[in-house]
Amino acid sequence: MSHAPVLRPIRDDFPALSLGVAHFDGPGGSQVPRAVADAVAGAMTAGLGQRGSGTATERRTQAVVADARAAAGDLLGADPGGVVFGRSMTQLTFDLARTLARGWAPGDEVVVSRLDHDANVRPWVIAAERAGATVRWLDLDPVTGELDDPATAIGPRTRLVAVTAASNLIGTRPDVAAVTRAAREVGALSYVDAVHLVPHAAVDATALGADVVVCSPYKLFGPHLGVLAAPPALLERLHPDKLLPSTDAVPERFELGTLPYELLAGVTAAVDYVAGLAEASSVPAELTRRERVVASMGAVERHEETLLARLLDGLAALPGVTLVGSPAHRTPTVLFSVAGHPGPRVHAHLGALGVNAPAGNFYALETSRRLGLGDEGAVRAGLAAYSSDDDVDRLLAGVSALVR
Ligand SMILES: Cc1ncc(COP(=O)(O)O)c(C=O)c1O
Repeated sequence: MSHAPVLRPIRDDFPALSLGVAHFDGPGGSQVPRAVADAVAGAMTAGLGQRGSGTATERRTQAVVADARAAAGDLLGADPGGVVFGRSMTQLTFDLARTLARGWAPGDEVVVSRLDHDANVRPWVIAAERAGATVRWLDLDPVTGELDDPATAIGPRTRLVAVTAASNLIGTRPDVAAVTRAAREVGALSYVDAVHLVPHAAVDATALGADVVVCSPYKLFGPHLGVLAAPPALLERLHPDKLLPSTDAVPERFELGTLPYELLAGVTAAVDYVAGLAEASSVPAELTRRERVVASMGAVERHEETLLARLLDGLAALPGVTLVGSPAHRTPTVLFSVAGHPGPRVHAHLGALGVNAPAGNFYALETSRRLGLGDEGAVRAGLAAYSSDDDVDRLLAGVSALVR
């Protein structure tokens, strides 16, 4: 009989957790295990230079890049040959939007959603406006926080659909496969923002049906940079601005200037770390790294589900606390407000107690406005793989002290 993979104890792997802070700020960037920091430092002192095959230094540098592409491929269930690294998801999205928009004309339509972080909205809106294309909005239910039926926005003139795999504000996990299917049926490309899903569930680019998937390793134990993954054949059809002497090969032609090799070593270390999150006795011995990533993220999902129930029940029981949205399928990211206490005050109050739960719209500006929270948003408590019962109880005690 097989058992579901179980998360192993991991808190001691994170030096920052020894400071005693309860971190609910993971959706803005996770804490980092020592192995990842060591890998970044190790790469910087290992003897790196430019990439090539002529010297050991060049080969070492080449290997750092190839290893990171393979790691990112394993993280996303994507072809390493179509993995592009950039400074951030935002930068990669602006760059690709500019490139794709060269093929758009008046009458073409671009679909963006009100559930998305602005990094998957504004680059497309700006690019569409410049090309004279029309922007169509995929709306959400302002009470539940669920995304509308994609048929309400996707039509025969749609060229691109940008959608999130999970809301970084309220945690909604929409039916991405239904959205990408609707896009494919009209011949449109789909661009899926997996930044907020990657830390909470195994992501499979193929199962999502996405043409392009993007994520940010710093949300799951890695360094600050962005990753874009697409089938190499799709990237071959696109021609971004590039320097004349730089290679025209895919995926390199999408990467401007010299890559941050030390951070790429950190990406590989982060994926290796994620692959080892499940208790060894709870997974079969002979698995590929990709299979171990999937098993580990299953273990993370179950751990976070249990904590989420504790958090939601606890907050719901407090007078004056309002939970925002009630998505059926969600990440453990909870948005709430406290009657009589503006978000920044709750944030500061909790911060003084060593509980990090920031307030704002977290750049999910359209979502915040659609939910009736204006640009202020509310307080966000995001669980992570390293979150504990004790963290949750400290947050609940902190909020309870405000409303009592
Ligand atoms: C859902 C989501 N998408 C995109 C981004 C932007 O990522 P980056 O900081 O890599 O540009 C974020 C960052 O918070 C996010 O949460």
